[in-house]
This record gives sequence, structure tokens and C-alpha cells, in this order.
Amino acid sequence: MVTEQKYLAFALPDVGQEEMQEISEALASGWVTTGPKVKKFEVEFAAMVGAKHAVAVNSCTAAMHLALEAVGVTRGDEVITTPYTFAATAEVIRYFDAHPVFVDIDPLSFNIDPARIAAAITPKTKAIIPVHIAGLPAEMDAIREVAASRSIPVIEDAAHTFPASYKGRPVGSISEITAFSFYATKTITTGEGGMITTNNDAWAERCRVMSLHGISKDAWKRYTAEGNWYYEIIAPGYKYNMTDVAGAMGLAQLRKAERMREQRKAIAEKFNAAFGTLPELQLPHDRADCMHAWHLYMLRLHLDRLTIDRAQFMNELRTHGIGASVHFIPLHCHPYYREQQGLVSEDFPVAHREYLREISLPIYSRMSDEDVQRVIDAVTDIISQHRR
Ligand SMILES: Cc1ncc(COP(=O)(O)O)c(C=O)c1O
Repeated sequence: MVTEQKYLAFALPDVGQEEMQEISEALASGWVTTGPKVKKFEVEFAAMVGAKHAVAVNSCTAAMHLALEAVGVTRGDEVITTPYTFAATAEVIRYFDAHPVFVDIDPLSFNIDPARIAAAITPKTKAIIPVHIAGLPAEMDAIREVAASRSIPVIEDAAHTFPASYKGRPVGSISEITAFSFYATKTITTGEGGMITTNNDAWAERCRVMSLHGISKDAWKRYTAEGNWYYEIIAPGYKYNMTDVAGAMGLAQLRKAERMREQRKAIAEKFNAAFGTLPELQLPHDRADCMHAWHLYMLRLHLDRLTIDRAQFMNELRTHGIGASVHFIPLHCHPYYREQQGLVSEDFPVAHREYLREISLPIYSRMSDEDVQRVIDAVTDIISQHRR
């Protein structure tokens, strides 16, 4: 018997007094769009990930769009990425009328399989976008090796991956360009927001200029005392700049980022301890040489040991009042990519198989011990009712 309980949200932002204080300062200053809070956020973020430059924008989608523009992707080019991702990773390639070339994933991590990348490279390949699913870094040494051998820049989709590190190196300092997300459900949030990090001066400058109408250097400063009314448009840019209200929120979130990560890690450990004894489940992959951001807790069902499928499992979780999700519906399953590129599930056997048995459980710092226990009890109960 399932008793009526309050619905446990799948994700909730951890915001409070610190964010309100920073945002009030921004509002009181009269400077609400890109200004000093955003600059400070960029400086602190760059320091945290060990990058020379950080450029704040209004989404990770914008960050990846600008990154591809900076490295010179144009019409007809190819960009290698994974089908196991969110819409944003591939749509930014299509913005240029360039083509995403999807490469199947590693079955353990859900991340792009580096061993399959070389075969996908052609003279038209202009970039490789690995995605660090759930917050566990992709196999960057192998990816960078194959990319470097052909001088192809790597742009990391690190929407799930702050703070995290790969073999001691913080994500954000490893590849040519890295793109982060501060969307509402992400590990730190500014409501909507994103960040580009790079050590390349020219690319940083290009991203900054193109994030604000393609207007020559420090366009935002034209309204300050040191500013000047004169500006020049050097390219038809975009309107991707971050507001100071968002930057203020980001500053407060940065200070909590490690505390929140530790809380998510502790939740993952409790889930692992509870689910590790159930043969019907496969625990999320982790690695001793990486620091996992634990943005998602991606559990897998051994469907052959259950009398229900993944959709029914999701319904059962809902009945238990647990918000859950599926990450991701691979891009080859969506009508646009299926029809545009003639893709079928057999093209990506690993991504397709893993997708059919994945469920993402709530994992966020605002979850109480009781919330965590409710999730454990719900999953355990569903398994005991439906084991084969
Ligand atoms: C893997 C991945 N990449 C990119 C994005 C896009 O992030 P944003 O909403 O900040 O544009 C998301 C958002 O959910 C994502 O999950």
C-alpha cells in the first residue's frame, strides 16, 4: 500500500540569504545588466577552474554556439559529438548549417567512446564536443590525443560538470574551450546562465565580442565613467550577455559550490549503499581518478530481472510521490535527427540499449535525510513488488 505523501521534486535550487544579499546589492547599485557583478563572477569562476579566461553568457547553449563560432565552424563542416545528450549540444552545430556526427557511447559512463572517434573524423571535422554526462568527466586523455593528432579543437559540454576534475585537472582547464550551464536545475544556478572558459586569448575575445552584438571591445563599459560613446561593429553578433542580477546570484552560488557537491556526493553514497545489494539494479559509474560533480544519479534497471519496463518503473515512482526523470532520450530517437540524417537505433546500439533502462533519481543539496530515505524506500519497494 502506498500512502499519500508530498511530491518530492526532481530538482530544486539551493538559494537563500546569500543570493538575496548579492542580488539586492546589484539592484541597489542601479546596474542590473552586464557590469561589475558579472566581471567578478568571471574572475572567481576562472580562478576556481584554473582557466585564463571566463566569459559569462546567458546559457550553456549560447556558450557552445559562441565556442563553435570562435573556432571557425561554418556551413557544411562536421562536428563530432555524442547522441547521448540534450538538444543543445547538437542544435548549436546546426545553427551553422554544419553537421553533427554522432559517435556511440561507452557503456559504463554514458560518455562518448573515445575508441570510436578516429573512424568518424573526416577532412571536414572542425571540432569534437564530448559531454560529461551526469558530472563524470569523459575520457579526456584519449579524446585529446585523437583530436590533437589532427589539430582538431575540443569543446567540452560541461553543463553537468561544475565542480569536477579529471585526473587532478579541474574541468574548465583541460580543453581548448569548455562550456558550463547555470540553468535552474544545474549544480550551481543563476536562473539561466552559462560560462565559457579558455586559455586562448583570441577565442576569449571573440566569444566576448560575439556575445554582445559583435561590438568592439568592452561594449558594456560605454555606459561607465571610463567608457566612450564610440563603438564599432566587427561582425553580426548575438545577444548572449549575462545580467548583473544573474552574475550576483552566481557569485553566491560559487561560494557554496563545493559544499553542495559534497552533499550530493553523500546522497549518491547512501543510494549506492542501499541499491548495491539489489541485483535488479546497476549503480552509476564513478572513477577514483576523477572528481564527480554528481549532477545526476543515473541508475540502470536490469530489465530481464523485472516484470515491469522502465516506463512502468517511472509511473511507480510517481505513484510513490518521487520526482524522477530519464537522461537522455538520445538524439537519434528524435524526429528531426532521425529524418534529417536517416538515423536508426542500430546505428548507436550502446546508447539505445542504455537509454531504455535508465532512470535518474533526485539528488540535490536541499534533500533532507528523510527525502533520501523516501527515495530509497520507494525504489526498494518497487523492486520487491516487481522482481522476476
Ligand atoms: C548536456 C547538456 N548540454 C547543454 C545544456 C544546455 O544548457 P543551458 O540550458 O544552460 O543552455 C544542457 C541543459 O540541460 C545539458 O544537459
